[in-house]
Amino acid sequence: MNGADVTLSDYTSQQLRNLCREAGFTDTDTPAELLRELLGAAGGRPLSAGPLWPSDVADDATPVEFSFAFDDGGDRAIRVLGETIAERPGPDANVAAARRFLHTVTERYGCTADRFEAVQDLFLPERPRGKFALWFSLIFRPGAAPRVKVYFNPDVRGPERARELVAEGLRRLGMDNAYDIVLAHALSRGDRDRFSFFALDLDDDPLSRVKLYVSHAAASVPDVERAAAAVSGIDRSEIGRFCALVGGSSGPFAGRPLISSYSLVEADPDRPGNYSLYLPVRDYVPDDETARSRIRSFLAEHGLDPADLDRALGAVSGRPLRDGRGLLAHVSLRLGGFGSGTTVYLSSEAYDVTPPRRGTARPVPVPLADAPLGG
Ligand code: TRP
Repeated sequence: MNGADVTLSDYTSQQLRNLCREAGFTDTDTPAELLRELLGAAGGRPLSAGPLWPSDVADDATPVEFSFAFDDGGDRAIRVLGETIAERPGPDANVAAARRFLHTVTERYGCTADRFEAVQDLFLPERPRGKFALWFSLIFRPGAAPRVKVYFNPDVRGPERARELVAEGLRRLGMDNAYDIVLAHALSRGDRDRFSFFALDLDDDPLSRVKLYVSHAAASVPDVERAAAAVSGIDRSEIGRFCALVGGSSGPFAGRPLISSYSLVEADPDRPGNYSLYLPVRDYVPDDETARSRIRSFLAEHGLDPADLDRALGAVSGRPLRDGRGLLAHVSLRLGGFGSGTTVYLSSEAYDVTPPRRGTARPVPVPLADAPLGG
């Protein structure tokens, strides 16, 4: 197979296999196969044909993004965020294709779709608006069955209805109190704070989560510290340290927004139990080399092994880190009773590489087969 014929599925599933192998998985076939199914019609297209649909999952329209979760307790997980694209893509057709994928995985892995069923008519209207309607996250841990999470878009009926949709979704899941707490802490700055995702774990466990995401335009550390205070008992001093080390300042973060997320569980429906802060590091560095060194410092400070980061980077890309910006897309800090940790989000860059911010570097060609596939 020559480089020009490599399909999106081949390319990204090889990246995923490499990542899983580096993380100590013995079975890399299951993740690769599931990713292939998730990608739908977009997967079979050669990379040289370009994106079938302008997915917002990643900056270059690749409908996949990888992440590597480090739990402070030592556990590791590899995850894939992805969007299913229909053969003749469009907002309605993509939702139909995503529903087929969902049906396949719920049958195969016995995931429960109860909570999905409880809210889907709110979030999946005919003619969905906004940047997406349904995304998935596939979560892989060595020796465990894959887990699946779905993401809905609060803007799907227009941004003016986002709060109403989220409130109604939580009401149906018996979590109205938690909504009020999140509203008071995270949405106090008018239009600058907005709900960005409403996500559900699809497993039948008292600890399976509903996750609410709020994006904070031009926010500084005190704004996100206030957002974190919705969860009792967490060490908020970590937030300033995270922003300084990974983001390079205490704000305001005027590029892509900081995002807060809250985990709500059925076992404790009245208040959020975990807080995470996402920092889109690619907007606050000149290139991925800088992002890498900042993230390494942060990992080291948390007793995590910075060499794991390099192995993960090597698994998805062979390009020099100075030649682009956004292979390291986001970093998140997780705080609270359900476990603390750090997650690093890695772009596939299947279609394109964002140039570094310096003026001097040469433009970077799209990496085709050789880098990760050869590795
Ligand atoms: N690409 C979008 C963004 O950067 C959505 C997204 C993908 C995202 N992965 C994410 C948002 C991780 C927050 C965290 O906003």
